[in-house]
Amino acid sequence: MKVLVIGSGGREHTLVWKIAQSPAVKKIFCAPGNAGIAQQAECLPIQADDVKSLTAWAERDRIDLTVVGPEAPLTMGMVDAFEARGLRIFGPSQKAAEIEGSKAFAKDLMKKYGIPSGEFQIFRDFEAAVRYVQKKPVPLVVKADGLAAGKGVIICHTSEETLAALDLIMVKKAFGAAGRQVVIEEFLHGEEASFLAFTDGETILPLPSCQDHKPIFDNDQGPNTGGMGAYSPAPVVTEKVHLEVIEKVLVPTVQGMAEEGRKYRGVLYAGLMIQDGQAKVLEFNARMGDPETQPLLMRMKSDLVPVLEATIEGHLSNQKVAWEDRPAVCVVMASAGYPGSYEKGKVISGLGEAAKVPDAFVFHAGTALKDGKIVTSGGRVLGVTALGQGIRDAIGRAYEVAGKISWEGAYYRKDIGQKALKQGMKK
Ligand code: AMP
Ligand code: GLY
Repeated sequence: MKVLVIGSGGREHTLVWKIAQSPAVKKIFCAPGNAGIAQQAECLPIQADDVKSLTAWAERDRIDLTVVGPEAPLTMGMVDAFEARGLRIFGPSQKAAEIEGSKAFAKDLMKKYGIPSGEFQIFRDFEAAVRYVQKKPVPLVVKADGLAAGKGVIICHTSEETLAALDLIMVKKAFGAAGRQVVIEEFLHGEEASFLAFTDGETILPLPSCQDHKPIFDNDQGPNTGGMGAYSPAPVVTEKVHLEVIEKVLVPTVQGMAEEGRKYRGVLYAGLMIQDGQAKVLEFNARMGDPETQPLLMRMKSDLVPVLEATIEGHLSNQKVAWEDRPAVCVVMASAGYPGSYEKGKVISGLGEAAKVPDAFVFHAGTALKDGKIVTSGGRVLGVTALGQGIRDAIGRAYEVAGKISWEGAYYRKDIGQKALKQGMKK
């Protein structure tokens, strides 16, 4: 079987690494990929959102299975374009991916189907939005409706900040068309978790629990990033929370999407805020998380390919997936300056030594090959991921590997996984 993975981040390297272990797979391509992916797949010089070129290429090269990593191609209709040509592709249709592509759509869906989430209002008119926030207590969360590369959510602690956020999105149009509508939402307190599930539109097959670390600095300080590290399982998702999320979030969402004529197939990712054992949805994503995919797939013992195929073909109910009991931790190593501006082209050293540590793997994100050397080419550069006998052991091993790798300006959080230890102590 020939497989094409679309994207170039740590999530896509993990997908390639996992798919390469499937006995059914003879060859993997990745568009556009990175320096790590190039060691396991043939990288194509086609951008991930170039729907037309990718469809034509997959048809010409008779690709048996395509897996879409990031959200942009999904919301642009990549899956619809492939399916129109009879090509098998993993991911939701354009109409189903709107659950991530429009926060207003997602909030309306949650309201209609009684899915627990923060109180909110949607605005197109700046003056009306201003009148609304003047009556509301702070903190408030202002969200641009569309995709804004993770920057469209602004947490506002004062009314001045709320007005500035509305001005930025609605008047200055900082996120362009993504800010035509805004969602103003109640601020939710608690601990976040990422809840991912495969679904074919009927059956829901949850992945183990997971937690991301969004802010750039230790103790969740500083601006949000794409994610600075993740671990699985996440003890904040207790057995009770897990069952409630399936019953109160995933089942009504999947059924609601089908009722709306937007049958959802792929991975559905609910970003949750959990307080006192109650989960509320912060957002939905129409894809796997990055860096959540790194620890999750490292814990997946079964072959991923049959699960992807069953999701596409609608017989996920026949699938059983075995997971490692051992926890996994991923520490993201980033370029100095990220999530703001940063320099590229720094030579990365120590990857050879790092590769010798057992039960660990260094997934590449923003890396490229230059004059035979692996150099940095993005904000998030590597996702150092390790299994351990317990969470403490997995943390230790991930940091042991990260400590062997260096480049000028390499930065990573030193507290990935600490929340799991704290939750463990609470129990
Ligand atoms: P989203 O893209 O909607 O997940 O928002 C990005 C991040 O903003 C989330 O991971 C949270 O850390 C934060 N966030 C979003 N909505 C809320 C909310 N209603 N209350 C508190 N934090 C939020
Ligand atoms: N790690 C957060 C995301 O993938 O959206």
